[in-house]
Amino acid sequence: MERHELGEELLTGHPLIDHQHQTLLSLIDSMAEAVANGASWPLMLPRLQLFVRLLEEHFRSEEQVMREQYYPDYAEHRAVHQHLLQQVRHWLHPSSEPTPDPQTLLETLYAVVLRHVEEEDLPLAFFMRRQARC
Ligand SMILES: [Fe+2]
Repeated sequence: MERHELGEELLTGHPLIDHQHQTLLSLIDSMAEAVANGASWPLMLPRLQLFVRLLEEHFRSEEQVMREQYYPDYAEHRAVHQHLLQQVRHWLHPSSEPTPDPQTLLETLYAVVLRHVEEEDLPLAFFMRRQARC
């Protein structure tokens, strides 16, 4: 089973944010392991609920950091958070999809974390490093 460790290139340098990113990835890894061991959808649901709670907490932390740093792209970044949360929360109520495909769920969750780190959090990290030098 592949374990996702955040490589140097995906670290923001902010200890709390990096720790939260790794926690989210490790939780998805444990969900992937459960799926590989044949876990059914009802067994996945509590893990998904935990993931949503951690993601909400993580986004709140990031938004606080952005406000503290007067980050100029705060509004856009926050809008992405809201969109991603909506995308993940959709899986909690799969009434329109009687049998959600766990593999698709896992791919979605990995993408939510990894793509967001790369596309939105690394520019924030770059900004924070530049500010720290001023
Ligand atoms: Fe973010």
